[in-house]
Amino acid sequence: MMPSFEDFEPLFTTDVLQKRIEELGHEISSDMVDSKNLVVVCVLKGAIVFMSDLIRHLPHTVTCDFLRLSSYQGGTQSTGTVRFDFDLTQPIKGKDVLIVEDIVDTGLSMSFLLKALSAREPRTLKICTLLDKPARRRREVPIAYTGFQIEDRFVIGYGLDLEGRYRNLPYVAALNAKKQAELDGNSEDALHAPG
Ligand code: IMP
Ligand code: MG
Repeated sequence: MMPSFEDFEPLFTTDVLQKRIEELGHEISSDMVDSKNLVVVCVLKGAIVFMSDLIRHLPHTVTCDFLRLSSYQGGTQSTGTVRFDFDLTQPIKGKDVLIVEDIVDTGLSMSFLLKALSAREPRTLKICTLLDKPARRRREVPIAYTGFQIEDRFVIGYGLDLEGRYRNLPYVAALNAKKQAELDGNSEDALHAPG
């Protein structure tokens, strides 16, 4: 059965998130100190909240762009086919590109995106993700900046959704152990839609 809000418990409070995002911002800023053209790419929709907080800790010369991915679900299992729902508005050739993502799970979305964007010859191309769930990885993905590594639990809030809802929670919540076990016993993977 589809989990409801009552099945979730707080995982990262607003304070914990904000502290970590400030640290990430400082780390990225010092790594990019020689960059003249930093483009922050928000992967819609999940990364909107993270991105909007992160960019306020980055140099005022950054620019922002947005894209959206979707993946085909072949039967009950994800086929791993990812494509652009819509693409960047500007060329990235010769620029320093920082992809900002909510969570790296199987890695299918980010491995597709790294390949697609590196073909456009940016000067540098890096991933910054708020959350990393390595347990379900199907593709190796180099992640330059990670907010938090988490166990294999379904999470919502701070941009992350369950069927489009709860993106506006100001904290991250995780499915409780009982519901997570129920979910794990179910072969459907419908909760983990990209975006
Ligand atoms: P990947 O391609 O499997 O790495 O998954 C990428 C997308 O799946 C993320 O951008 C999220 O939108 C979604 N996703 C993965 N895990 C979760 C989760 O625990 N909660 C909400 N969305 C998730
Ligand atoms: Mg999603």
